[in-house]
Amino acid sequence: MELVVVDSYRELSLWAANRVADLIRRKPNAVLGLATGSTPLGLYEELVRRHREEGLDFSQVTTFNLDEYLGLPPDHPASYHYFMRENLFAHINVRPGAVHIPSGVAADIEQECIRYEEAIRQAGGIDLQILGIGRNGHIGFNEPGTPFDSRTHVVDLAEDTRRANARFFNSIDEVPRRAVTMGIATIMEAREILLLASGPEKAWAVARTLEGEVTPEVPASVLQRHPRVFVVADRGAAAQVKKLAG
Ligand code: F6R
Repeated sequence: MELVVVDSYRELSLWAANRVADLIRRKPNAVLGLATGSTPLGLYEELVRRHREEGLDFSQVTTFNLDEYLGLPPDHPASYHYFMRENLFAHINVRPGAVHIPSGVAADIEQECIRYEEAIRQAGGIDLQILGIGRNGHIGFNEPGTPFDSRTHVVDLAEDTRRANARFFNSIDEVPRRAVTMGIATIMEAREILLLASGPEKAWAVARTLEGEVTPEVPASVLQRHPRVFVVADRGAAAQVKKLAG
């Protein structure tokens, strides 16, 4: 894993945008793995700007999102379908048919998980996966204890995760208790991974990811076994990394 420490959230967003833009220029039909949450918002804003002002072309790009809440329809303002449309897809020229997000309202959710895995395979696998990280080290919605060999599956959300995400809802009671997420094995198959972390509340998780034991108790620690991971962290998020101390 390579740690890139940057001075600001803006710098983190630009670093990630450069990586995504370079990939798309090199491989116009790249397959991107995308995350929601607050962390990638600056990245998406910058990608939209580059599309508008510099012609960054998404017309051949395919995308797969990590996760979705169970029970939220795509037009629910707190759904990840809605989030992605508002913050990225409505503002770039990606083809609607090339955008994939697990359905939180599929009649047969087990079948939906299988279908999602198959769609990733059919697309040739993910070239670059963007990840945020939970305060407890989760990636996607793979909470502590998720087996490393998991594929797309339904999860019970940890209370800490529900609390952290309550800001997107009117109250914590509205935060769904379950979600669909790519599994750890699904994420690990991406050819390159960019984990973005901003702010001191991520410091414990970032340090454990980079320097801790590889254990399902800290899901992101599995990334130590991936050949091509960049952890891009601002100073707050990198504050507990031992090799930077002194
Ligand atoms: C989002 C996701 C989550 C978030 C994580 C951090 O699709 O899979 O793992 O990346 O919860 O969220 P933020 O960025 O809001 O701190």
